[in-house]
Amino acid sequence: MWEGELAQEVWAYNESFPGPMIRANRGETAKITFKNNLPAHSIIHWHGLVVGTENDGQPQHAVHTGGTYNYDFEINQRAAFNWYHPHPHMMTGEQVYNGLAGGFIVNDSEEASKNLPAGKYEVPLVIRDASFSKSGALLYKPTSGGFLGQVALVNGTKDPYLDVDKAVYRFRVLNGANSRVFGLELSNGAPMHLIGNDGGLLPASTDMARIDMGNGERTDILVDFRNYKPGTKIMLRDARSGWDILEFRVGNTQEIPFYASLPISSDIEKLNSPVVTRTFSFDGMTKINGKVYEMDRIDWTVKRGQVERWVFKTNGNAPHPVHIHGASFQIQSRSGGRNRVFAWEAGWKDTVLLEDRETVTVLIRFDNFVGRYVMHCHKLEHEDMGMMANFEVV
Ligand code: C2O
Ligand code: CU
Ligand code: CU
Repeated sequence: MWEGELAQEVWAYNESFPGPMIRANRGETAKITFKNNLPAHSIIHWHGLVVGTENDGQPQHAVHTGGTYNYDFEINQRAAFNWYHPHPHMMTGEQVYNGLAGGFIVNDSEEASKNLPAGKYEVPLVIRDASFSKSGALLYKPTSGGFLGQVALVNGTKDPYLDVDKAVYRFRVLNGANSRVFGLELSNGAPMHLIGNDGGLLPASTDMARIDMGNGERTDILVDFRNYKPGTKIMLRDARSGWDILEFRVGNTQEIPFYASLPISSDIEKLNSPVVTRTFSFDGMTKINGKVYEMDRIDWTVKRGQVERWVFKTNGNAPHPVHIHGASFQIQSRSGGRNRVFAWEAGWKDTVLLEDRETVTVLIRFDNFVGRYVMHCHKLEHEDMGMMANFEVV
């Protein structure tokens, strides 16, 4: 159960902070109405869901106060922890910060066959940061370098703890912060068993001591509490800021059987033989390839069904978590900076962290739809200042 201090005066989807967890099965149709009761224009984007342009919630689709937008799309992709948040031009950072974000879990039969922990043993963790006024109101004072808050919130709660049984838990983690990158680790040095990321289960699961997550990235981890004495306290920490994020308190409940067999593996098609290479430079805090975003300018076109190599570079002001709408991609290499591809970057991704001096190469193929999509920095203050581009799949 969630305990801790709740934030006051947030903007919320259906009066829930974070927004209500949406769960759907592959093959189902989502019909969702967005009614905008905010004092600003807005639109909802389904981050990680591959849908047609009209359902993608791009800045062009923003509706004014009192307006509505109807979504109707088929869920035609593998199981994964996706999420949803506003995407209006130049105002995404403020709206997400004020509380508008929620999870969207897709299930499928492949994942169901793995016998992963479920019910109260499957816990989504939406992690972000925030600053508060003395009266408990959220304060948003972004700088051009991004917004960094003073405390961590997990599922909207400050200083949270979670009572856990002597069991294996599955945590679905989202970095929902505007700008802060988290380096997750457990205070007792115990491994986190990494099974999935943005695009669902990894080709092979593995134990990790630390997992770094840029804005918008997701990880799926198993933590084994079966061998701890009742009363043990373990902290989920952020190694980058030194913050305690979430305290686990092990209870008396007898050891719960765990049926999944580790490692968890999943057959994933490997993209190869790209026919086009495109290079994108994330410049300063506002530009991609020297250009600030313009809502009505298409910056490049992509042929549907063909594998392309996209190369991301930066001349500074990173981290830039690079996010692409409309398709998942596979990370091929990272040179400079951290100079490697991490275990949590295997399989399918929709967001990749680009640090200073790094060049990241990915392979991507747009299979499903033709139409306009966006690529942008998911540091929301950079996105709002124009580090975003339109492209069209033809
Ligand atoms: Cu999570 Cu274009 O966004
Ligand atoms: Cu997205
Ligand atoms: Cu950026």
